[in-house]
Amino acid sequence: MESLHLLFATSEVFPLIKTGGLADVSGALPAALARLGVDATLLLPAYAAVLDSAGSLQQIARLDLPQHGDVRLLQGRLPDGLPLLLVDHAGYYQRAGNPYLGADGHDWPDNALRFGLLSQMAAWLAGEQSPLPRRPDVLHCNDWQTALAPAYLHFYDRAHAATVMTIHNLAYQGVFPPTVLGALNLPQESFHLEGLEFHGMLSFLKAGLVYSDRITTVSPSYAREIQQEPLGFGLQGLLRHRRDVLTGILNGIDTEEWNPAADTRLWATYDAANLAGKARNKEALQQTMGLAIEANSPLLAVVSRIAPQKGLDVVADALPQLIQMGFQFVLLGSGERALERRLRDLTHAHPGRAAVHIGYDETLSHRIEAGADVFLMPSRFEPCGLNQMYSQRYGTLPVVAPTGGLLDTVTDATAARLASREATGFVLERLDAGALRSTLARVNELYRNKEAWLRMQRAAMGRDFGWAARAEEYLALYRNLLARQ
Ligand code: ADP
Ligand code: GLC
Repeated sequence: MESLHLLFATSEVFPLIKTGGLADVSGALPAALARLGVDATLLLPAYAAVLDSAGSLQQIARLDLPQHGDVRLLQGRLPDGLPLLLVDHAGYYQRAGNPYLGADGHDWPDNALRFGLLSQMAAWLAGEQSPLPRRPDVLHCNDWQTALAPAYLHFYDRAHAATVMTIHNLAYQGVFPPTVLGALNLPQESFHLEGLEFHGMLSFLKAGLVYSDRITTVSPSYAREIQQEPLGFGLQGLLRHRRDVLTGILNGIDTEEWNPAADTRLWATYDAANLAGKARNKEALQQTMGLAIEANSPLLAVVSRIAPQKGLDVVADALPQLIQMGFQFVLLGSGERALERRLRDLTHAHPGRAAVHIGYDETLSHRIEAGADVFLMPSRFEPCGLNQMYSQRYGTLPVVAPTGGLLDTVTDATAARLASREATGFVLERLDAGALRSTLARVNELYRNKEAWLRMQRAAMGRDFGWAARAEEYLALYRNLLARQ
């Protein structure tokens, strides 16, 4: 069979630029598809950080777009060898800070133009006028930042690639005043209830959901949840309407990047047969974070964006009591300033028992996964979530809220699952400080039973969260889509 040409359009990719799980998925899924024989190319904005680390780049096209000005298309390779295309617009992408936010924590004011251009370039590459030697068969868009591409193709192009829209997080929709319509070169007739309009505003994500051939999201549970309130965030009706083309495909994890037996970021490596290295990581983590060095105190950890989605306010509510129960606590994260402050103040009140590191630190995130005993993910909603999978692979048992991908990836320690040796973590009954406390009392009890704990660690470490099987699911979806065209 001739190889399938895929253009994977995204706003972040590990290791070049990362703010969250989308980067991890963009860094691993196209590579896993390439291993299945797909000819995959990534499309990304040429952020300053990306230009610094992308290695040698070649200009393959230059455009003067009336709405955007001078735009160049650069070609290079990702560190793993995958072909990479960069949309280079100095004014839009070469700034200090995060891809989406300025240093003040607010969205960049020109995000509509910045990601409108990314979407428009994706559509151009996947359309009739594609400058590529071979037009892609499938354009795979990810989240709102690339979601206008299917609309551009719908309105301006006849013979174009099939389109897939993946929702990584429906809470972020890219909603802007309708006045940007002209600046984005979209036709006035696209602005109506069955098109791009969302309560009088223009919604990027809605465009992708209306005009793409297939919609996917990152877990089966989340695929169900977003068809209803409240997790549909206003788009539940549209998603229900398109449910025949909507599927949930669970994310995988990069099992080379996240492998406790070979992770060079760790203080010591280990595997399921011998967990001695894990104890060494715990001791070093306690020392680094200024916690009392106590091998037998259960160490709770969080690595997360600090956003309402993640439920860390509930952790803050419960923290003093958790510490009283004998837990130590470590958090790495950044985001909402007020909650960052609250968490920091709480840990100052409990020296030696709790510590936070506000910031973004890839190395420390691996070390925490390795050094902690228990990983907390009390998310209000979680499309998939990756850390609960990293945790299991590192023998750090996750405590998760009963939502989205967390439900699909963690096997709760019920009596039956403990007996059958399938249990790999703990699922809260509901999300509040009371439920967190009572579940952690259960965790504490099991932690004292060294044999039972080790059995759970081994079950967790033995789970296969690799991308290979997931990539097969995406490939089947692409093939099915192309067969129908
Ligand atoms: P989301 O994409 O909603 O933030 P995921 O669980 O899918 O949630 O992915 C989060 C990713 O970002 C994980 O790889 C996690 O380790 C990483 N991460 C989040 N915050 C930090 C941080 N402060 N430092 C390092 N890595 C972080
Ligand atoms: C989003 C979600 C997270 C998911 C990630 C990658 O950021 O919040 O649950 O794992 O995307 O798909």
